[in-house]
Amino acid sequence: MLGIKVPKKEAENVRKKLIELGLLDTNFKVKHEGEFVIFPIKEKVEGFDIVEETFERAKKRPHSYREVVDVPSQLKPLLPSSFDIIGDIAIVELPEELMPYGENIGRAILKVHKHVKAVFAKGSKVLGEYRVRELVHLAGEKRTETTHRENGIRLKLDVAKVYFSPRLATERMRIFKETKEGEVIFDMFAGIGPYSILLAKKAKIVFACDINPWAIRYLEENKRLNKVENVLPILGDVRKVAGRIKADRVIMNLPKFAHEFLKEAIISVKKGGVVHYYGFSHEENLFDEHVEKIKLVAEELGKNVKILEKRKVRPYAPYQFNIAIDFAVF
Ligand SMILES: C[S@@+](CC[C@H](N)C(=O)[O-])C[C@H]1O[C@@H](n2cnc3c(N)ncnc32)[C@H](O)[C@@H]1O
Repeated sequence: MLGIKVPKKEAENVRKKLIELGLLDTNFKVKHEGEFVIFPIKEKVEGFDIVEETFERAKKRPHSYREVVDVPSQLKPLLPSSFDIIGDIAIVELPEELMPYGENIGRAILKVHKHVKAVFAKGSKVLGEYRVRELVHLAGEKRTETTHRENGIRLKLDVAKVYFSPRLATERMRIFKETKEGEVIFDMFAGIGPYSILLAKKAKIVFACDINPWAIRYLEENKRLNKVENVLPILGDVRKVAGRIKADRVIMNLPKFAHEFLKEAIISVKKGGVVHYYGFSHEENLFDEHVEKIKLVAEELGKNVKILEKRKVRPYAPYQFNIAIDFAVF
């Protein structure tokens, strides 16, 4: 086949030029011969030293772990097409039939995603007050602590001890964009601080409450990591703090139980302040029940609410969505 032979010192420039012209044949390996480099090309190019050469085939890098994984072919359609990566840890949801092949699946993920160092399978749903799930080690390091980057901040956490979902990064950025300079924020269910640390860049102060001591420990560490001082971590049940804080903006990121904490949110927001409420809903009735509950609790407290926005945040389970409702309190 055809090649272009160039002295080593010109090779980098020629390589760039060939890529630019779309003429480098990447199906084959570049050859090194003494002081010369020979590039495989798709067709003749004017002004170069063209040679007839044999090239070794280049190995194609797989795009998905599904291309390299060793599982019986009848089970391949069950392989999930995506999974969460938190820092350098991958967490994959496997149907029961694939669990016996978990190690192979973990190894395939490590092979294709070079920055992933440990792979776990979800061993349960998100459970209990701390909203944490059980994890089953599949491959790589047996380590659950990592540092995740999102929205320009670094978040240290232990995926086995605290709740964290990288799928909410866009939602957090949306709230950041709505936040105004100098606001007082109350992050009622702060976890390791993905909202609190981000919003602290604009806020005067962020009160960040969580009942899980591990979450508060990592939140303290994440304050240091990001050199943030205006976040006040509060360890304990939010019911004990609510009402003592008067915020411009309240974040209720506890979708499973947020409806049980509406009173706490409403008594903690200033007149005209905004509450970001999260919930889970069936697709057939996304918002009505939540809105009714919000209005009912506000009425019981002698307050008025104005619904500002309702939206789907992400799919959560078949036919189920994580939804968000923003409302102002008067
Ligand atoms: C779904 S997680 C959200 C964490 C964080 N906002 C995030 O985006 O990653 C909910 C958090 O609420 C905390 N939590 C649950 N019940 C609580 C309560 N009564 N008071 C304070 N925190 C609570 C849990 O420990 C958990 O960290």
